[in-house]
Order: sequence, then structure tokens, then C-alpha cells
Amino acid sequence: MTRISARIAAIAESATLAVDAKAKALKAAGRPVIGFGAGEPDFPTPDYIVEAAAAATKVAANHRYSPTPGLPDLRDAIVAKTKRDSNYEITADQVLVTNGGKQAVYQAFATIVEDGDEVLLPSPYWTTYPECIQLAGGIAVEVFADETQNYLVTVEQLEAARTPKTKALLFCSPSNPTGSVYSAEQVKAIGEWALKNNIWIIADEIYEHLLYDGATAPSMPVVVPGLADTTIIINGVAKTYAMTGWRVGWMIGPKDVIKAATNLQSHLTSNVSNVSQRAAIAAVTGDLAAVHKMGEAFNRRRKLIVSLLNEIPGFSCPTPTGAFYVYPSVKGVLGKNIRGKTPTTSAELATLILEEVEVAAVPGEAFGPSGYLRFSYALSDEDIVEGIGRIKKLVEEAN
Ligand SMILES: Cc1ncc(COP(=O)(O)O)c(C=O)c1O
Repeated sequence: MTRISARIAAIAESATLAVDAKAKALKAAGRPVIGFGAGEPDFPTPDYIVEAAAAATKVAANHRYSPTPGLPDLRDAIVAKTKRDSNYEITADQVLVTNGGKQAVYQAFATIVEDGDEVLLPSPYWTTYPECIQLAGGIAVEVFADETQNYLVTVEQLEAARTPKTKALLFCSPSNPTGSVYSAEQVKAIGEWALKNNIWIIADEIYEHLLYDGATAPSMPVVVPGLADTTIIINGVAKTYAMTGWRVGWMIGPKDVIKAATNLQSHLTSNVSNVSQRAAIAAVTGDLAAVHKMGEAFNRRRKLIVSLLNEIPGFSCPTPTGAFYVYPSVKGVLGKNIRGKTPTTSAELATLILEEVEVAAVPGEAFGPSGYLRFSYALSDEDIVEGIGRIKKLVEEAN
């Protein structure tokens, strides 16, 4: 008899969190590590949000259980925010507040996927999606788009992967890990294809406010209204308000889906921490000044890191227009001799870079095929220059 169930033993550790933990441990041990692994803004949560939470700690009602689907004030605030930011009209009973967007991802798949259902997963994908699909009994069908198509899948590719078992499409724009953003025309084409083929959409909009160069990221059920009854939206405060540690996200969907997911959550985690929910109310009812300010810094760093990466021989980095990640191809470096080692995969290259020059990036294997590295640019301009400079020097030794 095995001690760990097959279902849980099949889950891999989150590679992004693992790289981040390794870099932080080296740093704590005094090593001058530069970590590009973290998926979180490097800014503090804005003061007015922290103050709302501090005040909430003093209110006895917040020391008690509260309704599983979320504080009524927060659900109402999410309804108003969704109208303001996406022009999507919903009601409060279509909202379930979750412990971060991550729990919403898990619950979305768990609620609609049956054993053996296929879920189309555009690749490179965020590392959590395939594990959640598998936990729900589904089969993730990867549809890969490489750097020559800006990591954006086409309707033709999706159609080629569709079978009678296709239940849903995971759609993440702006994307983690590539930073790519689908245009309104692409969203429309994919949405209409999904509607025609009766395919559910799970739309992850967590990076909705981090857009550059005039990019927009319209919400799929707004572009294709007929999809409203078969779309689940994932969102949260983590990336927009620098609130990754507060653990507040939400899912939006048809009422029957939200009711069923609420039943599931009532046995898993109950309500999200009331203090965090109070902070989230301050966040989503406030303005977007803080995210615009953060966005200015991210935009500057985006341009900086893309130009530095493209100076490295063998690296090729498209310019993303969303989120805070860049995703260069490193295929031109693989197979070359660097300090006596010959990395043939991006995982081996990432290890070599961490060991030799103490720079942490997440290898493409965490997000799909080998041959890529993900760099988060949520760190200072100085660290970006120093970190990418170290990699450049190392790679220039290749022969
Ligand atoms: C694409 C995407 N969706 C959802 C999440 C979940 O974020 P959180 O659980 O912190 O709200 C993340 C976090 O990295 C993400 O990158």
C-alpha cells in the first residue's frame, strides 16, 4: 500500500514557488542572489487598504465566521468593479469570494469538469492550471504557441485540438508566464468559436490592469455576450493592488455554478479572512491610482529587461504588452558548453545560471515545453541590470 494517494502523488510542487523559495533561502544565507522568480509586485499594499484592514481587526463581527460566498459588501463591490472595469453586468449571487485567485481556479475546474473531460490549455500556461484540471478528473490538452506567434493560440489550433470530449478552454490574458495579450479581434474569434462548439470558458483576468503600449484586454463574455451562461471568470486583488499575501480572489459565473462552488468551498475553507475581505473592499471601491503608478514602473522595467535580454547571444525575447513577465526563448544557448557544462534543456540552463551567477529564473518546463525562461520584472531597475548582466557575461563564455 502506498502512503500517498495516487491523486495527490501526481501533483508536482509549484515550480514558480520552488524557484522563489530556493532564491530566498540562498539570499537568507547571505548569497547575493537576484531573484526573477516571484510572481508578485515588489510594492507595498497602498496605505488606505492597510488602514481599512487595521480598523477591521477592532470590530468583533470580523472575529467570527461570515458567509462562505463572501461579505455582502465585498460581493456588491465586486459587482460594481466588474461593471466599471469590464462593462460586464452581473449580480451579487454570481460572485464567490475565494482565498486568492488560486482557489477560484481550483474550484472552477472542480465544479464543471467530469472525469475524462478534456480542457484545452493554451501553452505556455500558468503552472497551476494543469494540476487543477487533473485534480478535477479532467485531461489538460495543451495547445502550444511559440514566440513566432507571440505565444497566442489561434482558432485553427484550438479547432485542431477539439474532440467530442472537449468541455472547456482556459483563457488567460494578459498571460502568466508570457505577458502576451490577445487583441479584441482575437478574443472575439476565440469566443465565437467556443460558443459555436458549446465549450465553457474559464477566463483568468487577474492581470487585467497591467497593460502597456495601448493594449486592452476585453472580457470575453462582454465581447461575445452569448457566452455569459458558460463562462467562469477568475480575478482577485493580488496583482492589481500589490496584495498577494492577503489572499483574496473571486470567481464570477452563472448562479448554479457559483452555488455549487460555494457548497464545495463551505467544506474546504469556509469564508475568506474577514480582515482581508475588508481590505479588499477598500481596494476595489477605491480608485486605480496605485496600480497606474505601479504600472509606470513596470512599463519602464519591461522595456529595460526586454532590451537587455535581446543583447544576450542565443536569447530571443518578444516584447510583451501585459502582466510583469517576459518570456525569452533560450533555444540558441542550449547544447553549448558553458563552464564545462552543456545544458540541453531550459531547466538545466536555469540551474546552471543559479549555481554559477546566482540569478534565479523559472524554466519553461514549469509552463510547457522546454526552451524558455520566465523572468518577472517586479524588482528594481538596478537588480534587473545587475541580474541580466550576470547572465549575459556567463552566456558569452559559451562555446
Ligand atoms: C495567471 C494567474 N492566475 C491566478 C493567480 C492567483 O493569484 P492569487 O491566488 O495570489 O490571487 C496567479 C498568481 O500567480 C496567476 O499568475
